[in-house]
Amino acid sequence: MNIFVTRKIPEPGLNLLRKHHKIRINPENRVLAKQEIIDNLAKKEGLLCLLTDKIDKDVISSAPDLKMIANYAVGYDNIDVSAATERGIPVSNTPGVLTDSTAEMAWALLFSATRRIVEGDNLTREGKFYGWDPNLLLGHDVTGKTLGVVGAGRIGTAFALKSKGFDMKVLYYDEHRNEHLEKKLGAKKVALEEILKISDFISIHLSLNESTRHLIGEKEFKIMKDTAVLINTSRGPVIDEKSLVKALKEKWIFAAGLDVYENEPLINKKLIKLKNLVLQPHAASATFNTRTKMAIMAAENLLAGLRGEIPPNCVNPEVFDNKTKNHKN
Ligand code: DGY
Repeated sequence: MNIFVTRKIPEPGLNLLRKHHKIRINPENRVLAKQEIIDNLAKKEGLLCLLTDKIDKDVISSAPDLKMIANYAVGYDNIDVSAATERGIPVSNTPGVLTDSTAEMAWALLFSATRRIVEGDNLTREGKFYGWDPNLLLGHDVTGKTLGVVGAGRIGTAFALKSKGFDMKVLYYDEHRNEHLEKKLGAKKVALEEILKISDFISIHLSLNESTRHLIGEKEFKIMKDTAVLINTSRGPVIDEKSLVKALKEKWIFAAGLDVYENEPLINKKLIKLKNLVLQPHAASATFNTRTKMAIMAAENLLAGLRGEIPPNCVNPEVFDNKTKNHKN
């Protein structure tokens, strides 16, 4: 069969695909425009795409031969899954393999923002370190403080567990109870408002959907402590960036660390000017090991889907119920 890969991913994943199918890879190191994806999908049965590719209804309906979509990411808000399901196309993601790298990035941002690492680095490089100064770059302690985990799924759980060495009180907000966190850390499930009010550090680990879009806005920032540090490694639109600018500028909170943005790759110019904000270019899963595992996982999902099997990480398995039903009818 024929597969289109929207961007070069690590070779082990591509090699798996090459063994069984004919693949075309976007030769350029850039995100393709919608029409380019549509053009490349002609006569392709498989699509391996990135979180930067918007695979909407138009794209899906433009590809009559398409049988399987494998996303090279755990988040799949870039894909219109209902449109794919309607067409009987399975969609897969890459859960698990990026859990620790993402949780590690959340910690890196937490420390960078709280201990003002980037400000310190800049100041030192600029030749402005004039000797030990009792008032230079004061931040906050992490040890013994309260950690608020918003979204206690795989990544939120891994992030919380890594707090063990810092002897923190852990609160979490989630639809479901997380007995593992409760047992391991004595974590407490609380309402979002309570997390915002009590936590010294708030880290967001939610997937993006209509109920989480702008979950953190002006009202929520006003509830937070003025010493709080907010971290987001999930999806940008969970935070209302305009309110974040206000909260950081007017010191409603102490600092923030972001790996994701509302309108990636565009970044609100007002955010860039803020010193109490640490920025990363959506790089939480960017380790050699993780990206290779993601490539293999996405390829294995795609291969299974093209064989007509349920991909190991299918996000719309109901496609197969429908297929079985149609087959029986
Ligand atoms: C994902 O997989 O959803 C991450 O955002 C990639 O870094």
